[in-house]
Amino acid sequence: MRDPAPELLVEAPAPAPAPVPAPDRLSRRAAAKVPEVEDPNAPLLDVRDLSVEFRTDDGIVKAVQNVSYTLHEGETLGIVGESGSGKTVTSMAILGLLPKKRAAITGEVRFRGRNILGLPEKELESIRGKRIAMVFQDALAALNPVRRVGDQIAEAIAVHTGENVSNTDERVIHLLDLVGIPNPLDRAERYPHEYSGGMRQRAMIAMSVANDPDVIIADEPTTALDVTIQAQVLEVFERIQQRTRSALLLITHDLGVVAGVTDRVLVMYAGRLVEGGAVDDVFYRPSHPYAQGLLASLPRLDRRRDGERLHRIKGQPPSLIFLPPGCAFNPRCPDAVVGRCDVERPALREVAPGHQSACHFAEELFAATTPYEEPVG
Ligand SMILES: Nc1ncnc2c1ncn2[C@@H]1O[C@H](COP(=O)(O)OP(=O)(O)OP(=O)(O)O)[C@@H](O)[C@H]1O
Ligand code: SF4
Ligand SMILES: [Mg+2]
Repeated sequence: MRDPAPELLVEAPAPAPAPVPAPDRLSRRAAAKVPEVEDPNAPLLDVRDLSVEFRTDDGIVKAVQNVSYTLHEGETLGIVGESGSGKTVTSMAILGLLPKKRAAITGEVRFRGRNILGLPEKELESIRGKRIAMVFQDALAALNPVRRVGDQIAEAIAVHTGENVSNTDERVIHLLDLVGIPNPLDRAERYPHEYSGGMRQRAMIAMSVANDPDVIIADEPTTALDVTIQAQVLEVFERIQQRTRSALLLITHDLGVVAGVTDRVLVMYAGRLVEGGAVDDVFYRPSHPYAQGLLASLPRLDRRRDGERLHRIKGQPPSLIFLPPGCAFNPRCPDAVVGRCDVERPALREVAPGHQSACHFAEELFAATTPYEEPVG
């Protein structure tokens, strides 16, 4: 993960523009229109200082603030956080799916080095689905109920290849097979209501990966599923990644899923990243009180609780219109210090290589944790 310290991400301010003769001004404008090109050596996805605000009748909703992260080929990155913390909005912004009139988006989303934020719709269409695909949470809503599943997958292929693809095309059948749909030839002819919940979610995944995207963004892909089906869906992603080396951005509120399948994890709170790092680092050495609270609320099979109740983070997430001053977690934080936490916003910084926290006391909290040790025997 790249160093997201804001000062490293903000470009140096341009010098005040001196009056320039007309021809120069024109050539600069022409140069600005030359599209940036992709660089195969650049990181797959590099989100820099991304912020999203929505204009609403009640005020400005600060949904995402200064979020930065990098996603590499073949990697699985988890994003966790309570409801309303900005997980979905971050991803929708990446894909240019937010309402243009209401959402003010700043920052950069570099795909193989090319900033795709604010690209014209036509250009975005060639990236969405083909290079970066999204699996939406609600498969039933995302699939067209009056079209056969095979036809919908065929269309996903046809949109980007321009070919005439039938629902019995071997690519359609192969995709259904890849995501573990039994009797794919027969199933391709069926409608979404003839599929079970788990099968619909897998059909959605088949559609999303139809064009071997470089990045798959999966927004709560397993939330509506029972545990066994959940495991099967996660296996599907693993299989796809092994085949295509695609990177997976997995949005979930389920820390168990994160622990099981992701390489790194980012924790969001009230639109900001508050902790991030390798899964083991964040799970065993959490250095932000919010992440510590989330982890303490996880049931652990390796510890007897003797009737003790699971930890609960008190209070509710703040309004994103009226954010508390200082640290946004301050009203709920057991470690908050009056006069500091309610005044000064903590910067996100490294507590160890690749492990970041945005708490004024991150270093002390990190030092008080113990590194993971493999059980003996
Ligand atoms: N179109 C919109 N207009 C105004 N506010 C919006 C809009 N879309 C999202 N928001 C607000 O942005 C904030 C972040 O929403 P987001 O959907 O990203 O949360 P989330 O972390 O994905 O939550 P969940 O776990 O419930 O899916 C929320 O307060 C939400 O109400
Ligand atoms: S900065 Fe203060 S309020 Fe925020 S998480 Fe740290 S201790 Fe808690
Ligand atoms: Mg969401």
